[in-house]
Amino acid sequence: MSETVRLSVFRYDPERDERPFMQGYEVPLNRPGMKLLDALNYIKWELDGSLTYRRSCGEGICGSDGMNINGVNGLACITPLAGLKQPVHVRPLPGMPVIRDLVVDMDHFFDQYRQIQPWLQTTTPTPEHERLQSPAERAELDGQYECILCACCTTSCPSWWWNGERFLGPAVLLQANRWIVDSRDEATGKRLDQLEDAFRLYRCHQIMNCMEACPKELNPTAAIDSIKRKILARKS
Ligand code: SF4
Ligand code: SF4
Ligand code: FES
Repeated sequence: MSETVRLSVFRYDPERDERPFMQGYEVPLNRPGMKLLDALNYIKWELDGSLTYRRSCGEGICGSDGMNINGVNGLACITPLAGLKQPVHVRPLPGMPVIRDLVVDMDHFFDQYRQIQPWLQTTTPTPEHERLQSPAERAELDGQYECILCACCTTSCPSWWWNGERFLGPAVLLQANRWIVDSRDEATGKRLDQLEDAFRLYRCHQIMNCMEACPKELNPTAAIDSIKRKILARKS
């Protein structure tokens, strides 16, 4: 007989349930290296087809299966089942409205992402071939470009929970920094102007939950600090 894993999964269908509840499941641990996403897939495909969650790549690339796992945000597809305390408590990302079960409404998060205009902006004429970067300039993007917008950091940030309407949160600020440090971008001044705001940027109190939550091991706190330093530097 194979070993099993016990899970307690957040369930809520606003059209059917008066309130959310936790539902228990038992899943066989029948092959090595199983991840939490494998367990959710087993539940959906073998036990209960009504369980609803997002996933796509299964490899930590698309950022769609961010969820709260035993109280810590992470990606189900790269979280090994072995070693998780049981029952494994699986909840939606905190601080976002639940659409159904583990699926949250990310519209506000992506609205905030649009606010930082996440594309290359230039004023100089387009070169015949490409806008070149030195290896050192390219290296400035390391630790920034890898963000997959999973929102694990933003939804673990207490400042974003309390001021999320106006504070952009760690993911979006890290993305803003990605364009600020890009040597090819020519809108740095405008980008810093837009961020220099008591709420949009300065609600970060360096609590560092974001860094601990990031499944890609990025450091949004450092990115936020770098933006603040650039704003300070241009004043002197
Ligand atoms: S360091 Fe800033 S952005 Fe990160 S969790 Fe703390 S307050 Fe939020
Ligand atoms: S910084 Fe990390 S946790 Fe935050 S959205 Fe990007 S990949 Fe996800
Ligand atoms: S399914 Fe794509 S990151 Fe997990």
